[in-house]
Amino acid sequence: MPPRPKTAFVCQQCGFQSPKWIGRCPSCDGWNTFVEERLVAPPKGRGLARATREPIALDAVPADAEQRLATGIGEFDRVLGGGIVRGSLVLLGGDPGIGKSSLLMHASAALATRGTVLYVSGEESAAQTKIRARRFGISGEGIMHLAETDLGSVIEAVRRVRPSFVVVDSIQTMSSDAIASAAGGVSQLRECTARLLELAKGEDVPIFLVGHVTKEGAVAGPRVLEHIVDAVLYLEGERFHAFRILRATKNRFGSTDEVGVFEMGESGLREVTNPSEVFLEERSRGVAGSVVVPTVEGTRPLLVEVQALVTPTAFGLPRRTVNGADAQRVLLLLAVLAKRAGLSLGSHDVYVNLVGGLRIREPAADLGLAVAVASALRDRAADPRTVFIGELGLGGELRRVQRVVARLREAERLGFARAVIPAASLGDLDGTALEVVGASSLREALERSGVIER
Ligand code: TYD
Ligand code: MG
Repeated sequence: MPPRPKTAFVCQQCGFQSPKWIGRCPSCDGWNTFVEERLVAPPKGRGLARATREPIALDAVPADAEQRLATGIGEFDRVLGGGIVRGSLVLLGGDPGIGKSSLLMHASAALATRGTVLYVSGEESAAQTKIRARRFGISGEGIMHLAETDLGSVIEAVRRVRPSFVVVDSIQTMSSDAIASAAGGVSQLRECTARLLELAKGEDVPIFLVGHVTKEGAVAGPRVLEHIVDAVLYLEGERFHAFRILRATKNRFGSTDEVGVFEMGESGLREVTNPSEVFLEERSRGVAGSVVVPTVEGTRPLLVEVQALVTPTAFGLPRRTVNGADAQRVLLLLAVLAKRAGLSLGSHDVYVNLVGGLRIREPAADLGLAVAVASALRDRAADPRTVFIGELGLGGELRRVQRVVARLREAERLGFARAVIPAASLGDLDGTALEVVGASSLREALERSGVIER
């Protein structure tokens, strides 16, 4: 009798293995995430190429050993740290329908002028891909399409075609016959990704993997792959907004705080090289609750409009709805507003929204968020030509922020006249045409903005 294949229960969310089924994953706290999968011993020599290698002196490695392939799509190259590194394996994640295939089709078209591109799709036929490409004005010259879900055939095609760029759309549809479980399961995802990593290093070709993430986390997400690949990019945006933000959350070849901004249209994704202008285009000037905040994403300052709406709670507990900012942070700001500025929101619903579908995570936006809420509560507009910068402490004190010069320069460029900044940041300035107001507390900043009386 052949030995029974070894199996284990694998969490489809984080990859945790257990010999028996468990309802809640001890590693990621997910419920009902375990599925039985057959285990296979990983082939030896995982990691880089399998050939034995000699150690080499680091100072003998040429500094430009890493060759980059620029697509010419500035926003895309920027996020990658200046272009695609040869032999790298990059994961592009995002919700279904957000534009991952479209973005990689644009990149493929840009690279096809310099070599063959192999576009492997397990989701769309060549005809479907062609229809999209034509709509985007892409002729398809130099792009080879392969509708395939079998990993072995994909690897063989790469060895045969010797492309200069490969897209695998999506990694969830690929399956290797070395693994018995279904495509999309954690074992399959890991196996396929590890083999594509070997292929990328062995053939010295960059490979981009598309990975779908679902909010529910029901299907194995690309999260389990993040430590295998060289770089992880996420394409984000609100489904019904035109803007798409490309962000790196891991990058072995560059920084992870650069973002790329795109606008979606009939003819595809267009890069937005002047995001501040675009984000402020439809701004409601002089309306209570609207405030402009200069944030910094990577090396680039970005001006965004924060909107707040405050209404009396009609029934039950007051609601707090936050879009585009950290909801926990906003709760903290509401507490600081109540305690340190006397603006109690205990019987009001609060809605906070970032215009354009952008998300800000940096604390330097605290003051802008707080002023927007205070302005909405008092129904008094903040001066539309003033920008607000500052991190708030629990004591209501305004803390110094980074890169204040770049933020003010961007505000100046866009025609703003005044900036309220932390008093502690005044020393960092080096001449600006803006009228700069230094405030040391939230209360002082609110008074100087005209939102509350002195
Ligand atoms: P798609 O790239 O297929 O999304 P994903 O691969 O992330 O699932 O895009 C979804 C749909 O949106 C597709 O039908 C094409 C359309 N679309 C446009 O019309 N214009 C655009 O700029 C983008 C990005 C997509
Ligand atoms: Mg797609």
